[in-house]
Amino acid sequence: MHTVKAIYPGTFDPLTNGHLDLIARGAKIVDELVVAILRNSEKGTPLFTVPEREEMIREAIQGFDNVSVTTFNGLLVDFARQQGAKAVLRGIRAISDYEYEFQMAMMNRKLDPELETLFMMPAEKYTYVSSRLIKGVFRLGGDVTALVPPLVVERLKAKTVTPNNE
Ligand SMILES: Nc1ncnc2c1ncn2[C@@H]1O[C@H](COP(=O)(O)OP(=O)(O)O)[C@@H](O)[C@H]1O
Ligand SMILES: [Mg+2]
Repeated sequence: MHTVKAIYPGTFDPLTNGHLDLIARGAKIVDELVVAILRNSEKGTPLFTVPEREEMIREAIQGFDNVSVTTFNGLLVDFARQQGAKAVLRGIRAISDYEYEFQMAMMNRKLDPELETLFMMPAEKYTYVSSRLIKGVFRLGGDVTALVPPLVVERLKAKTVTPNNE
């Protein structure tokens, strides 16, 4: 039987409803979707640890029977091959995502011509949502409950109520 497994890699610091929207769309067209948190991210200090991010994703994907979550290190193409995945899922929110995503897709194709990158667009209402913006708005007291899963709201709050927080 011919089944398609795809990897949805990212930082997910933290998971947003935009990510979840993409997961739902991806899960409809591939047989198996693996959300994979990159452990060796070059993005600077994350707000949430990898196990914290994994836990929030695990809770949010409970309703999907063909979606799982894991972590990986190193090259995405190596991880995809290990997993027997034929495709990588990535999201495009706006033109600003395009250039970086295009470069990554081309580089991954160079490294493994067999691996395809699949791009999907989220619902319009999530096109402006990013993990970075969520953290920034939350830190300044803004309400993000409509933009992230409930457990993420809870965990964001828990991060803030530490003693000596400025
Ligand atoms: N609101 C959103 N709607 C659709 N796709 C998104 C959204 N936010 C992030 N993505 C996509 O999800 C993937 C992972 O994003 P992110 O967690 O920021 O990790 P990365 O560090 O790889 O960019 C990327 O392809 C990104 O474009
Ligand atoms: Mg990003």
